[in-house]
Amino acid sequence: MKRREFGQLCASMAAAASTGTPLALASERTSYPASILHTDHNEQVTASSLEPGTPYLFFYPYISTPCFLIDLDIETRAGSSNLQDQTGEAYKWLGGVGPKRSIVAYSAICAHKMSHPAKEISFINYRHDPVTFYNKAGKTEQRQRVISCCSERSVYDPVDGARVLAGPAPQPLAAIELAYESDTGALSATASYGGDMYHRFFEKFGFRAAIEHKVGDPAAWVGDKTKIRKLSEYTGQIIKC
Ligand code: FES
Repeated sequence: MKRREFGQLCASMAAAASTGTPLALASERTSYPASILHTDHNEQVTASSLEPGTPYLFFYPYISTPCFLIDLDIETRAGSSNLQDQTGEAYKWLGGVGPKRSIVAYSAICAHKMSHPAKEISFINYRHDPVTFYNKAGKTEQRQRVISCCSERSVYDPVDGARVLAGPAPQPLAAIELAYESDTGALSATASYGGDMYHRFFEKFGFRAAIEHKVGDPAAWVGDKTKIRKLSEYTGQIIKC
């Protein structure tokens, strides 16, 4: 079964399993069964337990596809700009969740050449501190709260759907839809939308991912729970640029 078919088949499961957050539709949105975010100690992650400005890592929708979870510590607005995947398909970002709508999640697979966090090293990282880069107009720009890939210096804006601010990336990072339960603060991942790189990721890195995650099938669904940890606890060396 093709992965996208798997996602579509699971749409009703995802809708049934997710609670609290309305599942607004976005172009290219692919539902997967919901995965509850939990800690090393098997406790549910809550919005208030996240350290603002700290990048966390979890795997979704597949057991080997990494995602960033970030409390940006700033309110976000849904659909503030029109985004496009590299096929030209337009979509709107759904915005962050949580009491301040500041919690966001994105695929951590760079849309350029798929640099991603591995156990030894990560060239892609979230920077809460100011970063200087050459923007699309070729001018020097300094900005905080960016996702920066130091492989070839693509820079993404997580406050606005991970649109591309700089570098060779042809599309935003795929967005991960989160469900937030306002009464408990619990968070779940429920869908992926925008231009995802999963198929190409498995083609290029599937063998290595299977070894790193000690699994037979790196394209297996992650399950109804997915563990989060700080990026710094997963990756031995984080490259900053
Ligand atoms: S892989 Fe990220 S900029 Fe090239």
